[in-house]
Amino acid sequence: MTVQFEIAALASRHDRKSFSCGVAPLDRYLKEQAGQDIKRRSALCYVACPQGEDRIAGYYTLSAGDVALKDMPDDIARRLPRYPVVPVARVGRLAIDKEFQGNRLGAALLWDAADRALRSEMGVFALAVDAKDEQAAAFYRHFGFVAFASNPLQLFLPLATIAKSE
Ligand SMILES: CC(C)(COP(=O)(O)OP(=O)(O)OC[C@H]1O[C@@H](n2cnc3c(N)ncnc32)[C@H](O)[C@@H]1OP(=O)(O)O)[C@@H](O)C(=O)NCCC(=O)NCCS
Repeated sequence: MTVQFEIAALASRHDRKSFSCGVAPLDRYLKEQAGQDIKRRSALCYVACPQGEDRIAGYYTLSAGDVALKDMPDDIARRLPRYPVVPVARVGRLAIDKEFQGNRLGAALLWDAADRALRSEMGVFALAVDAKDEQAAAFYRHFGFVAFASNPLQLFLPLATIAKSE
């Protein structure tokens, strides 16, 4: 049977306690920090739950950010305005519970983040992601994300590229 998921903003009804993705700091963030970040609006958190359940199968955080123009690859920087920084929407954390990994839920959450950034009424050049290690960076490269010259664990994908492929 295929599990259907619902994606929503993290709320008190969601069960954060049982979430386990195999990376302790990412589990801890959901349980201990996400609520405070939401209250301060420093990052919002979206969760995927199996339909009709409050169990969290995966989550990501989304916040506004910027990256230095000088860190953009030359071919892209050439086409951008000469401001020192470029606006991005940042996926700071993304994690799927071990039970649900390998079912394209990570991909679905990534595109959900892109969709929210595209629908925002502000100028946002790219979706930027922070990968915790090389394996996570490989996950993002799989979808066409490109690393910044300054840091191979920070990657981006222009939203115009995503919009075109939709
Ligand atoms: C990395 C993670 C988010 C991937 O989520 P997932 O739901 O298991 O992955 P998906 O099933 O959505 O994978 C989608 C595609 O990415 C590919 N993929 C998955 N992990 C990959 C990796 N590390 N490197 C390259 N490709 C990868 C899959 O093969 C799949 O390809 P396909 O669509 O062509 O078949 C998840 O395994 C996880 O939470 N890991 C622990 C925490 C973590 O590493 N977070 C990363 C952000 S810091």
